[in-house]
Amino acid sequence: MDSILVTGNGPLSGQIPIAGAKNACLTLMPATLLSDEPLTLTNAPRLSDIRTMTLLLQSLGAEVQALNDGQVLALSSHALTSTRAEYDIVRTMRASIRVLGPLLARHGEAQVSLPGGCAIGARPVDLHLRAMEALGAEMDLRDGYVHAKAPAGGLRGGVVRFPLVSVGATENALMAAVLARGTTVLENAAREPEIVDLAQCLRKMGARIEGEGTSRIEIEGVDRLGGATHRVVTDRIELGTYMLAPAICGGEVECLGGRIDLLQAFCEKLDEAGISVEETAAGLKVARKNGRVRAVNVVTEPFPGFPTDLQAQMMALLCTAEGDSVLEEKIFENRFMHAPELMRMGARIDVHGGTARVRGVEALRGAPVMATDLRASVSLILAGLAAEGETVVSRVYHLDRGYEHVVRKLRGVGAKIERIKGE
Ligand code: EPU
Repeated sequence: MDSILVTGNGPLSGQIPIAGAKNACLTLMPATLLSDEPLTLTNAPRLSDIRTMTLLLQSLGAEVQALNDGQVLALSSHALTSTRAEYDIVRTMRASIRVLGPLLARHGEAQVSLPGGCAIGARPVDLHLRAMEALGAEMDLRDGYVHAKAPAGGLRGGVVRFPLVSVGATENALMAAVLARGTTVLENAAREPEIVDLAQCLRKMGARIEGEGTSRIEIEGVDRLGGATHRVVTDRIELGTYMLAPAICGGEVECLGGRIDLLQAFCEKLDEAGISVEETAAGLKVARKNGRVRAVNVVTEPFPGFPTDLQAQMMALLCTAEGDSVLEEKIFENRFMHAPELMRMGARIDVHGGTARVRGVEALRGAPVMATDLRASVSLILAGLAAEGETVVSRVYHLDRGYEHVVRKLRGVGAKIERIKGE
């Protein structure tokens, strides 16, 4: 297994290009299942999760071609051969559940493996299933699979009221409702930019949707959808991660393609911590020029709140802040796995349930560390960039799921980082 060697070496400067959003792309790709005409996605990120979704769609008979070095995905579902998403693929990536809504809407049935365990929390899929039921589907759990069947004549519009905000369940319900007969209303829907991106793409395909980006989305079902070309929205989590690099190491970095509206709550916390963020013609320029970062308190929430997917990276920043910070994780019940690893680097952190208190120290020291999920791994790289000495981050396959060319991007701004090939 490969690992990453990081050596702390002071301020960073230069530009980092931000890729298209992993989590938007992972929900745009299954939208191909809704139409027999081609769907072309541009600005796609080059990630192992995208390759996994490619394999899943291909296993259903969809054609997926990666062009232009993987930045363009040409998808077509004109001749699907299966409506069954197998355990072998689904267990490696929970986003696979996003084929349920489109398969059910266009083909009247789907069998999707239940995803199984996850490092950051239980992550059930009950809300996805309830949303399908609200559109008339019959759901049955057998042999580790969800067996879903639409009524004769197909799904019908309905009211889906989510008891808690779920990005994935909102996306599945949206994709199912675009081909359902009549009107569907999604209440307490997620408002993430990835949902807005999906709605915009579906609209280009001919869907009738109103209210995306608010907690009430209304969909008027249509008989069929056509093809479209769509540019994947900027990855706000990759953006926030790289904004934290100069915040932690000092210096000034411009994140190309960045927008404040994607990360308002996060930018407010950076400001409170003493980091400057400025909009430029090409993106966002982030700088920490003098002094230590100030401690801040963070509570993760659904969009537009502070994203859970930036909590680990923010913790890495706060480890060397002046004073104590409190981070509350409200989305996932077990998302502090990075804390003990950061403590191996000299951080002082107390975790109690969903709350972590970070007591700022002057400096971190390099150490061998390992991570159990994607955002935790990148938080350890960020910590390593600011630590004295060498940090080796193992289990890099987590990182490859969500960050393309991480070594190249960080080297481009002066970081000392390299990938070490394992056996
Ligand atoms: N939940 C349920 N039942 C459900 C669905 C969700 O109880 O049927 C709970 C979850 O267990 C969690 C909360 O609701 O506690 C929110 O989960 P959500 O459904 O919003 O998450 P998701 O759609 O599975 C997406 C991202 C995650 C990101 C979350 C929250 C994708 C592919 N994944 O997951 O991204 O953390 O939204 O913003 O879009 C990551 O990229 O590192 C990542 C984990």
